Amino acid sequence: MSKNDVIKIYNSKLKDLLKHNKLYYQDSAPIISDDYYDKLKTEIIELEKKHKFLKNKSSPSKIVGFKPSKSFDKYMHKIPMLSLSNAFYESDLVNFEKKIFNYLNKKIKFSYSVEPKIDGISASLTYKNKILIRGVSRGDGREGEIITENLKTIKDIPFEVKSLNFPEEIEIRGEVFIKKKDFLKMKDNFANPRNAASGSLRQKDPNETKKIPLNFIAYTYGYFKNNSFKLQTDFLKELKSWGFKTNKDNEILSNIDQLISFHKNFENKRFDLDYDVDGLVYKINDLDLQRRLGFTSNAPRWAIAHKFSADSANTKVKNIEIQVGRTGALTPVAKVQPINIGGVVVSNATLHNEEEIKRKDIRIGDIVKIERAGDVIPHVIDVYKNKRDKNSKPFIFPNKCPSCGSDTIKEFNNTTKKYDAVRRCTNEGYGCEKIAVEKIKHFISKEALNIDGFGKRVVEKFWDLKLLNKPQDIFNLNYNKISNLEGWGQKSVNNLRNSIENSKKVTLQKLIYSLGIRHIGIENAKLISENVHSLNEFIKLVKNNNFNIFLNIDGIGETQVNSLKKFFLNKLNTDILINLSEILNVDNKNLKKNGKLKNKTFMFTGKLEGISRAEAKSLIEKNSGTTLSSISKKLNYLVTGDKPTKRKIEQSKKLGIKIISQDQLIKLLN
Ligand code: IVH
Repeated sequence: MSKNDVIKIYNSKLKDLLKHNKLYYQDSAPIISDDYYDKLKTEIIELEKKHKFLKNKSSPSKIVGFKPSKSFDKYMHKIPMLSLSNAFYESDLVNFEKKIFNYLNKKIKFSYSVEPKIDGISASLTYKNKILIRGVSRGDGREGEIITENLKTIKDIPFEVKSLNFPEEIEIRGEVFIKKKDFLKMKDNFANPRNAASGSLRQKDPNETKKIPLNFIAYTYGYFKNNSFKLQTDFLKELKSWGFKTNKDNEILSNIDQLISFHKNFENKRFDLDYDVDGLVYKINDLDLQRRLGFTSNAPRWAIAHKFSADSANTKVKNIEIQVGRTGALTPVAKVQPINIGGVVVSNATLHNEEEIKRKDIRIGDIVKIERAGDVIPHVIDVYKNKRDKNSKPFIFPNKCPSCGSDTIKEFNNTTKKYDAVRRCTNEGYGCEKIAVEKIKHFISKEALNIDGFGKRVVEKFWDLKLLNKPQDIFNLNYNKISNLEGWGQKSVNNLRNSIENSKKVTLQKLIYSLGIRHIGIENAKLISENVHSLNEFIKLVKNNNFNIFLNIDGIGETQVNSLKKFFLNKLNTDILINLSEILNVDNKNLKKNGKLKNKTFMFTGKLEGISRAEAKSLIEKNSGTTLSSISKKLNYLVTGDKPTKRKIEQSKKLGIKIISQDQLIKLLN
């Protein structure tokens, strides 16, 4: 082979690799398997070894943090690693406090631990007898990946803590990040420092991780045996004395005015810091209060992230496309001239819905201002009408589904008494191609069946090749055909087959969620699974379309029940469930545990003292009880507070339901 030929082959392989990097990191949509990727990478490195004249600053031998491995063992977090709710304006902070006062049922004074929100990757470190025994990534918040060896390469993470007062067992959590100046050296390969840190952390070989200078700042704990700390800020102080890095800009503040002024100052200062921050985190400092407030399904009630204002840039709208979502919603998306906004290349911006386009009069060809804030989808905030072409025409929103041609409608919302802003395809189901593909993507997504190596692009590819058109087809794939596809070697086919096999063991909650029923998210799926004994019982309800009994569940209302009815009236959906029930191995982990209030149901009337309904409900649930939202024979206890509703008391008496006071409830709870 001539020197020129070698260079050609080398360049083409490198180009291919960089393309797949982009697909992975910037679009989160890889189209080749890990093995194919690894092979490509090895080939490039081998070529370089053999031909010393081959050199390129983007070669995988020069930079690290190429596509991360997926082959880490999984670990279920003892305490989930949740996210934070966001605040952008002062009113969000006022609301945040209001909700807390409501939950506690009184206004109290508290102070905040204020901490810069580093834009990195969170990690959990478990120490037992002073030794780091396990390091885990956040993953989907419930289950992460064991990356102990990679974390051990970070100099800020102590392997052993010598302090006498270091707890016997503790899980320390914090942020792994890369400094701005170090990122500059590798900015051609990653969209931003956060991606660089993430990629580096998830390398198969810890020596690869070592090549990138990663940092770690500790800020909280997960599982903590015999925790006797009273304040978050005391804990932060102790973290430092144990040898962990903490943020030197942490602060204690005690009211919203102080928070706002600190935020304002910090927002200006942030560009001088040597790491990326995307806001401040405010945590109620009192840890007992934190414990009382607890969590909603995905975030603590006692903390909030106050984001910094977003980055924006001007660009041109090349086209407006209508995407069809899993529940039939038609979402207009502006395809724009790619533009770098705060370190991330943006080529799509959501236009939300038909109304939004009309209101802002956004047209194809317009110059618009696009904003991108953290992980929020970029959106148009301004249209420069003075720069508009004379011949431009208003955008006409289609009234037929662009995928299946069905009629589209705007539903009437009975609660708000208004028509929805969102237009939907009426063919909600597998009859509409785009909806079907989205449903399958939902089925395999992280929070649903979570099938490793089965990403969104793979679903699209398999769909196009007619390898699947229903969720259950995933369990009956033609592997022969797949192994002949580009990018799919025998090893990756085997991996796929294994992860599909592993995904067959699911909880009832996940199965219900994975069906993608409108208004039935993770939390509602949990409520439902808690209230049916088994998958068989659920199928029985489905066959009789008997969902009204769920109206008794506190948290489930007409909207959810109607949506369940509508979904299962479509025989195809029922068949899918039955089909899946024959393939999957479903267990109902959420069945009530053996707490003191097991099999007992409660309802409240009147105002409780010193505790909110929400907190009382959560106490009952922690003890395996259930709260109902209406009186029926199924109710065991009516708990009365101040000024109870007479009718409820009379009804309960008639049905022989025990009527108890708040004190008696506390006694039951011991
Ligand atoms: S507390 C449940 N403190 O922000 C409590 N998080 O949106 C959540 N983060 O995944 C963690 N700095 O990666 C906390 N001082 C800080 C933080 C922080 C950055 C990140 C963390 C988390 C995300 C939540």
